[in-house]
Amino acid sequence: MCGIVGYIGNSDCVRFLIDGLKRVEYRGYDSAGVMIYSGKDRSNVLIKKTGRILELEKNIDKNISGNIGIGHTRWATHGEPNDENSHPHVSNNEKIFLVHNGIIENYMSLKKKLEKHGYSFYSETDTEILVNLIQYNYKDDIEEAVKIALAEVKGTYGIGVFCLDEPDKLIAAKLGSPLLIGIGNGENYFASDPASILKSTAEVVYMEDGEIAVITKNSVVHKTLTDEIVKKTVETISIELSDIEKSGYSHFMLKEIFEQPRTINDTMRGRLMLEEGAPKLGGLTQHPEIYKSLLNAEKIFIVACGTSWHSALIGEYMLEEYARIPVEVEYASEFRYRDPIITPKTVVIAISQSGETADTLAAIKEAKRKGAVTIGICNVVGSTISKETDAGVYLHAGPEIGVASTKAFTSQVITLALITLDIARHKDMSFRQGYKIIKELKLLPALAESILENSEKIREIAHKFKNASNFLYLGRGYNFPVALEGALKLKEISYIHAEGYPAAEMKHGPIALIDENMPVIFIAIKDSIYDKVVTNIKEVKARNGVVISIASYGDDEIESISDYVIKIPETTNLLSPVLTVIPLQLMAYYIAVERGLNVDMPRNLAKSVTVE
Ligand code: F6R
Repeated sequence: MCGIVGYIGNSDCVRFLIDGLKRVEYRGYDSAGVMIYSGKDRSNVLIKKTGRILELEKNIDKNISGNIGIGHTRWATHGEPNDENSHPHVSNNEKIFLVHNGIIENYMSLKKKLEKHGYSFYSETDTEILVNLIQYNYKDDIEEAVKIALAEVKGTYGIGVFCLDEPDKLIAAKLGSPLLIGIGNGENYFASDPASILKSTAEVVYMEDGEIAVITKNSVVHKTLTDEIVKKTVETISIELSDIEKSGYSHFMLKEIFEQPRTINDTMRGRLMLEEGAPKLGGLTQHPEIYKSLLNAEKIFIVACGTSWHSALIGEYMLEEYARIPVEVEYASEFRYRDPIITPKTVVIAISQSGETADTLAAIKEAKRKGAVTIGICNVVGSTISKETDAGVYLHAGPEIGVASTKAFTSQVITLALITLDIARHKDMSFRQGYKIIKELKLLPALAESILENSEKIREIAHKFKNASNFLYLGRGYNFPVALEGALKLKEISYIHAEGYPAAEMKHGPIALIDENMPVIFIAIKDSIYDKVVTNIKEVKARNGVVISIASYGDDEIESISDYVIKIPETTNLLSPVLTVIPLQLMAYYIAVERGLNVDMPRNLAKSVTVE
């Protein structure tokens, strides 16, 4: 949550800050602000606005310029989204400015201490406490003051600091929130996400927890909070500008849905060994001890949140059916606070697109504390969860910017299938079966493409249901989690109430909701439980429900019992969610667009949930 950017150099930084903030707007979009220092007579401006970055941009006078600046886009935690609570925050003496992503947990006690020393506060934020704690510790060295203040802080932070008395530097520090330094020519930057600086430089240094950076226009010095110099490696950002632009699509979400044939392929690239009927996952095999623990696991927990939790459920079905290992899927937020039974042969897999989700990270830490081997499935390379886990597999789906997760989900399902296949081939899965699944995996990109070619039909159905108030999504087996995911997609971007259920469970309650106004989406593909799903469809029709079926090509029976049918190609059972979810993503997208909503930035949400 929240995105921060900073610039120090010789050029005007206003455009850099605004463009950089727009790139991290997915991290929060309640309000935004910038501090720009012009250097002339130590003059600086602080502009903060409730709402989107566009609002902030409108309020920056064309005459304003400066060659040092810090900016922030907010997802409110402490205090409602208003101008006062927006960042940057400024100290009582109006000399120190701070942008902050994260949460200062002990801010109340720090506030009391500062109040005793005569400090007052204009906002409800924890960040304002921190900036004053820095002032409180300031003698004549901002770096020192930041270090002393941070030593007193409990919580998480990615921060950028500017002090009017030392206007030749910016200070950045990180604990638990992502932060990197961009290396330019005669100018340097900091940002929460490489996307913010990619237009200016591809050279970055990723900061680690407990580190502080002193940034001038010609140098960056990295240290620990205890003052030891840290030697860092400059890395080259692997993403292209086109990865973070809409490239002609009206929304990132639509672009990301349509990217899936490519991203599915990217997740599998170099990992399928057809001649062995098995996958090869370098992120696991390069850690032989961890890999061995996974292959010999007697119990697997999968921890995740939201969409990633839905892919975890699919993983449970896969791993139990093919790898024959008992699996328990847990909301990370529950796992971390209960007392799960971790034995020496327990492996905990964390799934997280962003790799930054606070609950998932905490669940992993808890699992490690109890002695479990941990494995991460993340999309963002170098993210906190990918580093915290003992080994892992990256999705390689490219940056996902739309707040509603789409391409990450399909890549997570593929990754779980690869892990399952790997374990199963070390157990009793035959070469023939492994070979067959790999063949099916290779076909998936083309099959996904064929579904996308049918998007017009899905758009027409969406148009008919744009005013519905409730939706029910039903599926069974591997497609029960897809029903949950379809309902979540609709809820989060169209604000229509939707529920997902195992189809048969409908009789135990939700059936009471069904009438002629209730669209019910069935995932009714030709699999081993197809006949059971058909029975469930008939039960809905008998109660005048409106049925939209996601069905297999060649299934004519389904037409006679459904009001609308979206046909998709067939694949093997464990991979079917990769295809069945695509029409549901499109349906949610088109309904939200018909309702005139901001698909990429739905209300109250943020892409990366770094708070509990
Ligand atoms: C839904 C969505 C969220 C995330 C959840 C976990 O479309 O995006 O439910 O799936 O916040 O995020 P990650 O996967 O980054 O841990």
